[in-house]
Amino acid sequence: MIPSYVTGRPTGKETGDYLALDLGGTNLRVCLVTLKGNGSHEIEQAKFKVEDSLKTGDMVDLCDFIASSVDAFLQERPHLTGKHLELAYTFSFPILQTAINRGTLKQWTKGFSCKNAVEKDVAILLQEALSRRGLPVHIAAIVNDTVGTLLAHAYRHPETAMGVIMGTGSNACYYEKIDKIQKWTRPENIEDDEMVVNMEWGAFDNERRVLPMTQYDNKLNRESRNVHQQLYEKMVAGMYLGEIARNAMISLIDHMLLFSGESSPSMNTQWAFETAYLTQIECDTSKDLSRTRDILENTMGIPLTTLADRQIVKHVCGFVGRRAARLVACGLSGVLSHCGQIGQPTVVAIDGSLFEKYSHFEAYTREAMEEMFGQASVEKIRFDHAKDGSGLGAAIIAMIADQHHLSA
Ligand code: BGC
Repeated sequence: MIPSYVTGRPTGKETGDYLALDLGGTNLRVCLVTLKGNGSHEIEQAKFKVEDSLKTGDMVDLCDFIASSVDAFLQERPHLTGKHLELAYTFSFPILQTAINRGTLKQWTKGFSCKNAVEKDVAILLQEALSRRGLPVHIAAIVNDTVGTLLAHAYRHPETAMGVIMGTGSNACYYEKIDKIQKWTRPENIEDDEMVVNMEWGAFDNERRVLPMTQYDNKLNRESRNVHQQLYEKMVAGMYLGEIARNAMISLIDHMLLFSGESSPSMNTQWAFETAYLTQIECDTSKDLSRTRDILENTMGIPLTTLADRQIVKHVCGFVGRRAARLVACGLSGVLSHCGQIGQPTVVAIDGSLFEKYSHFEAYTREAMEEMFGQASVEKIRFDHAKDGSGLGAAIIAMIADQHHLSA
């Protein structure tokens, strides 16, 4: 549970030009966001591919790459040359924030493992790289993607209670009463009574006390880059669901219950069964499961599949996906109960590829919440697909930091 230093709710009246950066997965996104003050905004953006070698190399090289991408973005926009710009840095990893634009990295997640970054202030490292290139850009805020998602959605829907990411990784944030936040003392100049708390829920139950982990989860955890960390995330997020299903299929193959006991080099390769395959197989409604056959035989290289094999695989995918949605329902229910929102009209802003592309996810989540609270209460909860937290949401946070002189 990490105080985000973001207090109060946006009004929609915010104005100005802000830069926003988003580092969190395959791409680095650089945006120029213009807030127009009437609840509307414009975004210009460019994407830069983050090579795998940068994700596992030295943090200085990653920061220099980010600074060079910002430089390239600004050079293409001569009207910005030499102009002082405030920047919001969406850095979607567990950061222990000490100010709105300061915070140390606790650990890497989602397959990143750059050296010389853990326990360091990632904003200072990037600010130094921007200075090395002589860019007049000041980092006004470090933003978690969940917090950006919440703010971006609250800009137009002030009743939004939570921001959630269901993508490569998973996490949530929510508005907490400042009086209840023990890790932070309100300075005299802050009058708001709420602050967004970044839950880092992916790390829930790292002690392995309550999550019902199976042998397939244990194998995934043992073989991962961050053993015994992010255990809840490893059961619910897009990076992992395909791998859990692959582990279950391998076990069925070993018991001679699938593909007549035959596997393939791809089926035996870690991460080769992507979560996108799992969602496509679950949504395959053709009579002979032809899309499933295509994935298993042509993509995964299984020599021959029977209809019974394909039906089993479809069940496995369904179990893994539905379990993820039901576990997320537990997380959402815990927060909404804590905030007294059950039975009240509530909006949960959700972004991320898993939520976007897995069409059954929302229905499974609702189903589990209805089992807990009844249909009437759950009907009042709206799950909105909230886009562009790392652009619009981050820019609003940079503006708040800038105007209230919050940043160091
Ligand atoms: C990170 C969070 C992030 C989430 C979604 C997790 O791995 O720890 O900070 O919000 O992924 O991107």
